[in-house]
Amino acid sequence: MSVEVIVLAAGKGTRMRSEMAKVLHEVAGRSLLDWVLSASRSLDPVESTVVVGHQAEAVAGTMSDEVSSVIQDPQHGTGHAAQVGMGNLADPTGTIVVIPGDMPLITGQALTELVAHHRETGAVATVMTVVLDDPTGYGRIVRGEFGVDSIVEDRDATPAQKVINEVNTSVYVFEGTLLGDALESITPDNSQREYYLTDVIAHFVTAGHTVSALSVPAEMGIGVNTHAQLADVARVLRARINEELLNSGVWMLDPSRVYIDAGVVVEPGAMIYPEVYLTGRTTIGSGSAVGPNVQAESCEIGQDAVVQQAVMIEAIVGRDALVGPFAYLRPGAVLERGAKVGTYVEIKGSTVGAGSKVPHLSYVGNATIGEKTNIGAGTITVNYDGYAKHATTIGDRVRIGSDTMLIAPVHVGDDAVTGAGSVITQDVPDGALGVSRDPQRNIDGYAEKRRKRAEKESG
Ligand code: UD1
Ligand code: CA
Repeated sequence: MSVEVIVLAAGKGTRMRSEMAKVLHEVAGRSLLDWVLSASRSLDPVESTVVVGHQAEAVAGTMSDEVSSVIQDPQHGTGHAAQVGMGNLADPTGTIVVIPGDMPLITGQALTELVAHHRETGAVATVMTVVLDDPTGYGRIVRGEFGVDSIVEDRDATPAQKVINEVNTSVYVFEGTLLGDALESITPDNSQREYYLTDVIAHFVTAGHTVSALSVPAEMGIGVNTHAQLADVARVLRARINEELLNSGVWMLDPSRVYIDAGVVVEPGAMIYPEVYLTGRTTIGSGSAVGPNVQAESCEIGQDAVVQQAVMIEAIVGRDALVGPFAYLRPGAVLERGAKVGTYVEIKGSTVGAGSKVPHLSYVGNATIGEKTNIGAGTITVNYDGYAKHATTIGDRVRIGSDTMLIAPVHVGDDAVTGAGSVITQDVPDGALGVSRDPQRNIDGYAEKRRKRAEKESG
C-alpha cells in the first residue's frame, strides 16, 4: 500500500537567530530538509510535498523535481500547515506520513517501521515518540487504556502532565480522509493561538478511534530549534557516517575527531587520522593515509596516497602521490601517479606529472609539469602580470634550480636545467641550461676594513 509524505518546513526558526531559513542549515554536508527528504525516500512515496513559508523560494529552490512545494502564508501552526500540505496532494485520501523538516536524525528504517506498525495495529493515526530524560519543550504523550489519548504541548500541560517523559517527535502516520475532517474541526484554543496538529489526536479518540504510538531511540527525536541542537545533531550524524565506514573496513585512529560529510566516499583500507574534514564529493582510495589535519573539499585522493597537514579544494591526487606536510592544493591541481607536493607549497590549476616533485616552498599556478621533473626549493611560476594569467610548461626530466622565477608565458623543454636563482623570461630548449644571474665578485679583506671604519666613527 502506497503512502504520501508531507514535510512541514514553513516555520521561521526564530530560536536559530539566523537570517537563513532553519531547514536550510547544513549538517554533515546536507541541509536539515535534505536529510529528512532522503530518509522519506525509503517509503517510496507516490507523492511528497513540502510546506514552505519562511524564505519559501530559497527553500523550494534546493529541492529536487520529485518533490513539490506549497506555500503556507501566514503560518497558523502545525495543524494549519498539515492542511495546506494536504491541499497540495493530488489524492489526499490515502495513508499520509507527516514529518517536520527540522528532524534530520530520522532514518528511513524508523519511518518504514512506523508505517508497518500503523498498518498492523489498524489505528487511524500513529505517533512516533521518544522517551527523554528532560522532556521540557516537547508535546507530552498522554496514554490511555487503548493507546494514546492526547498530546499536550509543554506550555499547555498541567504539572502532572509535565512529568510525562514520553514525547511527540512530530512524525505521524494518518489516514487521509479522517485527517482532513479532523483538521477542519480543531481550534486555536491554546496559549499560542495556533492550530496544533497535535490536537487531532484527542479529536480521533473522542470520535471513538484508536491512536497508537511507536517509541524509537531518543536520538531520532532531536528536533533542531537552536544552534546547540544543530551541533548535537551534527555529532550524531558524524558518528553514524563514521560507524558505517569503520564497519566497511576504513581505519580511524579516533573517529570522534574525523568529520566526514554525507556523499564522501572512502574505500575500505584507507587510514584516516584525527582532525580530518572531508566534504563535498571527495573520494579516498584504499591504502591511502589522510591526516592529521587535512581539509579536503570535493577532492579525489587515489590509492596508496599520503596526505598530511593540507588544505585541498577540487584537487586530484593520483595513486602513490605524496602531499604535505603543509601544502595547499587549489582547484584544478592535478598530481599524477607518484608525484610529490611538499612543505609550504601551493598548487593551482596545474598538473604535476607522474613521479615529479615540488618538495619545498613553491607556488605553481597555471603550469604543466611533465614526468620525473624536480622543481627546486623556492621556485615560483610568475603567472600573473596584473592583467591576465599566463601558462608555464615544463617538460620531462627537467631540473629547475632552487629559487627560479619562471616568468610566464614560458616553456622549459625536456631534460633542460635552470640555474639556481635565475629569472627565466625566455623559453629554454630541450636539454639546455637556462641561467640569468649577475656574475659574482668577491672583495678581499672587506670585513676587516669595515671593522676599522666603525671603530674610527665611534671615536
Ligand atoms: C512540535 C509539536 C510538539 C513536538 C515537537 C517535536 C505541535 C503543536 N507541537 O512542537 O508536540 O514535541 O514539534 O519537535 O505540533 N511549521 C510549519 N508551519 C507552522 C508552524 C510550524 O510548517 O505554521 C513547521 C516548522 O517549520 C517545523 C515543524 O512544523 O518544521 C514543527 O514546528 P515547531 O514550531 O518547531 O514545533 P514545536 O514547537 O517544536
Ligand atoms: Ca521543532
